[in-house]
Amino acid sequence: MGIGKNTITGETKIPLHIALIMDGNGRWAKKRLLPRSVGHKNGMERMIGLMEHAFDLGVEYMTVYALSTENLRRPKEELEGLFNLIRNHFKEYMGRVCARGVRLRIVGDVSLLPEDVQQILRESEEETAKYEGKGINIALAYGARNEIVQAVNRAIERGEKVTEESFASLLYTAETPDPDLIIRTGKEVRLSNFLLYQAAYAELYFSDKMFPEFSDKELEKAIVEYSARTRRFGKTDEQLETKE
Ligand code: IPE
Ligand code: IPE
Ligand code: MG
Repeated sequence: MGIGKNTITGETKIPLHIALIMDGNGRWAKKRLLPRSVGHKNGMERMIGLMEHAFDLGVEYMTVYALSTENLRRPKEELEGLFNLIRNHFKEYMGRVCARGVRLRIVGDVSLLPEDVQQILRESEEETAKYEGKGINIALAYGARNEIVQAVNRAIERGEKVTEESFASLLYTAETPDPDLIIRTGKEVRLSNFLLYQAAYAELYFSDKMFPEFSDKELEKAIVEYSARTRRFGKTDEQLETKE
């Protein structure tokens, strides 16, 4: 196979941190006349495959949006199905990815989840506490506004004025650099309360694919597009050229 325009080469800039809004599991299942829970199971498996591929390509951090604070208002059966996926598969699946020396962190208000699920998440995090460097954040019961408000309250409790840097260190993602690339699958073009503070200079990429069909190749396509973009951070092209 020749080198197509969507192929990763030695020249491709690989984002250090990819954040992923995994959307479209329900519609993927509905189209196939399957229950939504099957969509979520396929989505979870795809999430693992994508993370493995991303780390193979040289990505060092991934943050994946698995459940929002708003999603907690979904029907009880759907939520139970999602919690059962965590109960039955999370440790094994995450163990597989993290065995490459990746530290797992859960970001979000975990106290909103059932106690036994919290326990599994804590144990999964602890198993990777020995790793430094690469990292995966799974956003569960996560909402960016909630994250920001909690950070503000912590700053007030400490009686300290914040700087941009110190504020970032009060967020759930304190240990992770800002995302370089945010990918959303499932055709919607919005952030749905994801990483609102951290996304300030992220490149955004939207895919029409429903998450279970967002293949490794689709991820490569997103990275190739990211690589071709000019990140100016407010500067002019001339300044970028002279590294001013
Ligand atoms: C994303 O898929 C996963 C979660 C929000 C848990 P959806 O469940 O939102 O799928 P659609 O958007 O209904 O297709
Ligand atoms: C965003 O998807 C949350 C996750 C992917 C976990 P939603 O399906 O909840 O987003 P909206 O409601 O369409 O904005
Ligand atoms: Mg959705």
